[in-house]
This record gives sequence, C-alpha cells and structure tokens, in this order.
Amino acid sequence: MNIDIRLATPEDLPQITSLNKKLFLHESHYDQTYNSNWPESATGQKYFRDSIKKGIVLVSHKTETPNEIIAYLCGNWDNYSFRLPNPIFEIENMYVSKDFQKQGLGTLLIKKLQKRLLSKNIKRIRVSTIIKNKAAQSFYKKLSFQEHELTFEKSL
Ligand SMILES: CC(C)(COP(=O)(O)OP(=O)(O)OC[C@H]1O[C@@H](n2cnc3c(N)ncnc32)[C@H](O)[C@@H]1OP(=O)(O)O)[C@@H](O)C(=O)NCCC(=O)NCCS
Repeated sequence: MNIDIRLATPEDLPQITSLNKKLFLHESHYDQTYNSNWPESATGQKYFRDSIKKGIVLVSHKTETPNEIIAYLCGNWDNYSFRLPNPIFEIENMYVSKDFQKQGLGTLLIKKLQKRLLSKNIKRIRVSTIIKNKAAQSFYKKLSFQEHELTFEKSL
C-alpha cells in the first residue's frame, strides 16, 4: 500500500470531521465527558477551518485515491507561549481509520509532522492522552516521546 501525506484543504473538512467524530467516540470509552456532537458543531467546524487555514492539519491517503482520507493529525503551536523553547507544537487530535491502524500510518504522520516542524525551526512537540488510553501511550513512547506532565481532574 503506497501512502501519501499532504496538508489538508478546506475540501477535506467533512472527512476530517468524520474522523474526529470517530476519535471522540473512541475517547468516550475512557471518558464520558467527550461530546461526540462537538466535531459538527459551529465551534468544532471553526476550529478545523482555522487549523486548516493555518496549515497545521496533515492528512494521509492511498496514493491512488488522494481524496479519500484515512488518517489525520491536527495541532497548534500557540498554546505554550510561556514555555521555553518557544514555540512548542501540540498535537491536539489524531486518528487513523480502524481498518488502517497498526500498519505504520500514525508513525508516518508523526515523522512528516516532525520534518515540517523542523523546517519551521519548531523543535519541541507535545501531546496529551487519556491515562486509560494505553495504546496511544505505547504509540508515542515508540516514537520517543517521554512522559512529561501528569494532569489531574476532579468532578465537583
Ligand atoms: C494511536 C494511533 C494514532 C496509532 O497509529 P497507528 O497507525 O495505529 O500506529 P503505528 O502502526 O504507526 O504503530 C507504531 C507503534 O505504536 C505502538 N502501537 C500502535 N498501536 C498500538 C496498540 N493498539 N496497542 C499497543 N501499541 C500500539 C506499537 O509500538 C507500534 O509499533 P509496532 O507496530 O512495531 O508494534 C491509532 O491507532 C489511532 O488512531 N487510535 C485511535 C485513536 C487514538 O487513540 N488517537 C490518539 C489520541 S491522543
């Protein structure tokens, strides 16, 4: 299978929304506070439109079908302006379609992202995972991400 990765365009928005919805359904197994209606909401759509415009959404497709997106990654480099070195890129959401998981696509996306960031002189990446999402933790560890911060939440 030949895979290509490119920057997302506005035409990709419906497919990115659909993959993000699948991610939310996946995450809601671990945390019931995920709102699976958010991806299609006005806020969700604005978030993705703005991210696509800023050039921080990567999509994967089979070489022969460039319009069928099978994985995506979206992030931002404005979230940690208080940290040195600055900027730090944060992967905010990422999903590989179920049929294509565990075939190296996620790794290809991260490697492409890293190349792109280095070309922009961005030298640090971060990502958060729900503590119960052990598969995602194995994935990031395999790619040499190191545990950095523990986030606490409490329901009142
Ligand atoms: C997590 C995810 C992005 C990984 O992408 P992927 O294409 O499936 O991963 P890769 O095939 O590149 O895997 C690379 C390595 O990560 C680890 N890994 C990936 N999926 C794993 C799983 N389900 N369980 C344990 N380790 C896993 C393995 O070490 C793997 O190396 P190996 O194939 O030599 O064993 C993808 O499976 C996914 O979208 N999952 C559901 C949504 C999700 O959890 N997103 C991340 C939220 S932060």
